[in-house]
Amino acid sequence: MTFQLPKKVTIVEVGPRDGLQNEKSLIQTDIKKQFIAELRNAGIKEMELTSFVSPKWVPQMTDAAEIVADCLGSGARSIVLAPNRKGIDRVYMTNCRAVAVFVGVSNTFNQKNINKTTKESLSELQPIISELKEKGYFVRACISTAFYCPYEGKINSTDTLELCRQFVRFGVDELSVADTIGMAVPNEAYFLFSQLKQEFPRTLLTAHFHDTRKLALANILACLQAGIDRFDTSAGGLGGCPFAPGAAGNAATEDVVYMLERMGIDTGVELGKLIRAVEVIRPHLSRPIESTYFRFYQQTASFSE
Ligand code: HMG
Ligand code: MG
Repeated sequence: MTFQLPKKVTIVEVGPRDGLQNEKSLIQTDIKKQFIAELRNAGIKEMELTSFVSPKWVPQMTDAAEIVADCLGSGARSIVLAPNRKGIDRVYMTNCRAVAVFVGVSNTFNQKNINKTTKESLSELQPIISELKEKGYFVRACISTAFYCPYEGKINSTDTLELCRQFVRFGVDELSVADTIGMAVPNEAYFLFSQLKQEFPRTLLTAHFHDTRKLALANILACLQAGIDRFDTSAGGLGGCPFAPGAAGNAATEDVVYMLERMGIDTGVELGKLIRAVEVIRPHLSRPIESTYFRFYQQTASFSE
């Protein structure tokens, strides 16, 4: 029996967006900028910086334009989320060239998150995606509730695949497929991502696990075996969608990087510097950092293995 592993994995850091959107206390824009700078310094090459959503729905993201103005790194892919035409028009006023649209497989979740049915979102997003592609943008589609929904329960994988199919037809460059409430188990992760890999060989496929039940690392290992080599993670394990009750943070970047590097898989991320990024944001959070690597690091200053 062979243990199939990639030599290299791309970490897509979602801390400044997913990580902070659920944070109760409003964090100063300058602190967010420092956080982003330290993440870049640690070797992160792809990152969700912020989202152009309604400030009434997610006040933490009100400073999106200022973040983008000051944090577009050179040689790195900086992605911003936008849910609708108004969000896209705000993106056009910046120099950002990579956009993530987002939609839930679950209709109920989609309504709670963006006040539209999944079908209405698709109708709105199709011409937007064509327009973005014509203008030369990189487009990522984030597929929420791909496994389970906090309102509808288990999601049929055929529904998830069908939604992914629509976005691939619309011309997206990347699918980021999410376990929004952190309920998937490794055989489910392996099954869905194997099918995605088989059906969409020319689309970048990224797995996005929330770590509610501490299965994110196990799910990532299952995805590696399904041939997936891109993972959304959040420094400090921050994150969660304000409209998905019960969702904990994302897989912690430091835990994922630690596991992968120890397995001989190159992430391009330096753990020591990554911890510096976590230290920048930590004093401004209303919750403790729960990642395993960070806790060990705090207990033993010399912790490196
Ligand atoms: P709505 O209330 O239906 O929108 O919200 P509306 O068109 O009726 O407009 C309402 C007000 O918002 C208006 O302002 C609009 O101008 C304004 P008013 O006239 O009342 O002063 N507005 C906007 N302002 C700024 N930017 C915009 C925008 N759109 C409308 N883009 C809307 C609909 C989509 C705006 C709202 O539901 C929303 O912002 N939702 C975002 C929710 C969100 O950010 N969720 C988290 C991100 S997704 C996620 O975390 C999941 C993911 O991580 C994967 C996973 O884990 O599953 C990606
Ligand atoms: Mg998420």
